[in-house]
Formats: sequence, C-alpha cells, structure tokens
Amino acid sequence: MRELSGRVAVVTGAASGIGRGIVLALARAGMHTVASDIDGSGAQAVSEEAAMIGPRSLALQTDVSDPTSVEALADKTWAEFGACHVLCNNAGVAVARPAAETTDEDWRWTLRVNLWGVVNGVNTFLQRLKVQDEPAHIVNTASMSGHLPTPLLSAYTASKYAVVGLSECLAIELADTPIGISVLCPGAVNTRIGDAGRSRPQALGPDVPIRESIREALAKGMDAERAGEIVCRGIEEDEFWIFSHPEMASFVESRQRGIEASFARWKERLS
Ligand SMILES: NC(=O)c1ccc[n+]([C@@H]2O[C@H](COP(=O)([O-])OP(=O)(O)OC[C@H]3O[C@@H](n4cnc5c(N)ncnc54)[C@H](O)[C@@H]3O)[C@@H](O)[C@H]2O)c1
Repeated sequence: MRELSGRVAVVTGAASGIGRGIVLALARAGMHTVASDIDGSGAQAVSEEAAMIGPRSLALQTDVSDPTSVEALADKTWAEFGACHVLCNNAGVAVARPAAETTDEDWRWTLRVNLWGVVNGVNTFLQRLKVQDEPAHIVNTASMSGHLPTPLLSAYTASKYAVVGLSECLAIELADTPIGISVLCPGAVNTRIGDAGRSRPQALGPDVPIRESIREALAKGMDAERAGEIVCRGIEEDEFWIFSHPEMASFVESRQRGIEASFARWKERLS
C-alpha cells in the first residue's frame, strides 16, 4: 500500500514496545492512528505522542482476546474516522517456563492473546475492509519463534507458528483483493515483553518471573521504534514476510535442512 498519508491505521498492543513503534512510524508517515491496548492509560500516552508528530490519533482500551472488545474497537474507529486502511494485530504476551511445567492457564492466556487476538482482529475487520473496497493492509505480529523452536517458550512458539500459518492462508485468499497482508517476524526487540505478566488476568494465577538470560537478550535487542519503521516499509512495499532480523536466516535454513534430510530418509525407507 504505497500511499499511507491521510489514511487510518489501527494498532493493537500499542501502549508499549513494537506496537508503540508502529504507531509512531505510521503517524510519521502521515496516517491517522488508533492506539489500542488493554493498558488504556499507556495507549493514551502513545496516542498523545502520535498526535504530536502526525495527524489525528485516538486511544482505545481493547482486550484483543475478547471479540466484543475488538468489535467495539472497529465500531469506534469507523465512527471516528469513517474508514480503516491498516490493521496491525500486534498485542502479545509470553510465559517463560519449560514445556512440561507450562500450565493450562499459561497455555490458555498465551493462545487467547497471541492467536485469538489475531483471529478476532481478522474476523472483525476483514469483512468491513472488503465492504469498504479501498486499498488496505493487515499486519500480523508473529516472531522468529514462528519459524524456530524457542526453548522455555513452548506456548509462545506454538502461538507464533499458528499466526504464521493463518497469515500464509490469508495471503493466498486475499491475493485478488485490494487488501495486502504481512506477517512480522522479529528476533529480539528491546521491549517490556519480559514483564508481560503485568497484563495477565488474576484468575489465571501468578506469572513466573522472566529468566535473566531472556531479559538480557531482550535488552540487547533492536530498538522498538526501528522495528516500527521496518513495519511501515513492509506495508508500503506490500511485502508478505517482514523480517526485521535478516541475520537470523541461517537458523531457518538449518531447520529446513533437517526437514529435507528427514524427507530423504523417509523416501529411502518407504521406497
Ligand atoms: N520483543 C521481542 O523481542 C519480540 C520478538 C518477536 C515478536 N514480538 C511480538 O511483538 C508483539 C509486541 O510485543 P512487545 O515485545 O512490544 O511487548 P510489550 O510488552 O512491550 O508490548 C505488548 C503490548 O501488548 C499489550 N497487551 C497484552 N495483552 C493484551 C490484550 N489482551 N489485549 C490488548 N493488548 C494487550 C500489553 O499491554 C503491551 O502494551 C507481541 O506480539 C510479541 O509476541 C516481540
């Protein structure tokens, strides 16, 4: 979608990290922005930043795991701006535990935010975007954990593989429409995802403190505003895969080589 200026973008998980970076980059590109997050005051602060550098911005408190809340996000966006052209399904959480210790509650929370949050965004907005019949673009935030196993993050990894799979299906289904689709797959970005437990519903029990090694890796990660600029470029260039960390390609190739070697062994066994 080449022309962003004057159009309208909705970003979930916008109060912090990559979501904030995306809002600011799109505002800088001249877009009206809707900063939405379960953290309503954080969304408000980011919306105020966006309004300083771009045109109008609105903050909305939204729980992406709740379809009614996402429906309200769409209703208010169209009521305020009369349109939506970019949707970034970005909100996400992580629980760091060995797979065998990951509880039902950890699984439920991770999948409800990371996977169902994207599903709710797609189900709510896509039909409206089709009716609107103008150029539009959806960006789903996955991760390099959607391509590679990440130890201690099994529920997170499973959720991100699912977001990659959903996005690849959408790319095929939307090929003949004016609606583009991207899947954002970052490596480490310096954000607050290590403290994701701050938004964990109390009913799901306590979160586990993030491991120091993960915290250190995140602190050394890419600046989140840079990640936002990369997303903006991916939308403008209608690029399906947004790989903000191309240096990680060799890990994906190595996994692929393992799969190909296994295919070759099975071919021999079964011939
Ligand atoms: N930081 C990284 O290294 C990294 C790498 C790859 C992918 N990602 C992905 O990037 C996305 C953004 O994460 P981040 O790193 O900026 O973390 P972050 O914690 O800084 O921001 C995540 C935001 O999502 C919000 N959120 C959580 N639950 C929500 C819900 N139910 N409804 C609405 N908003 C909710 C949080 O309040 C927070 O503002 C996530 O999908 C994450 O999985 C992050």
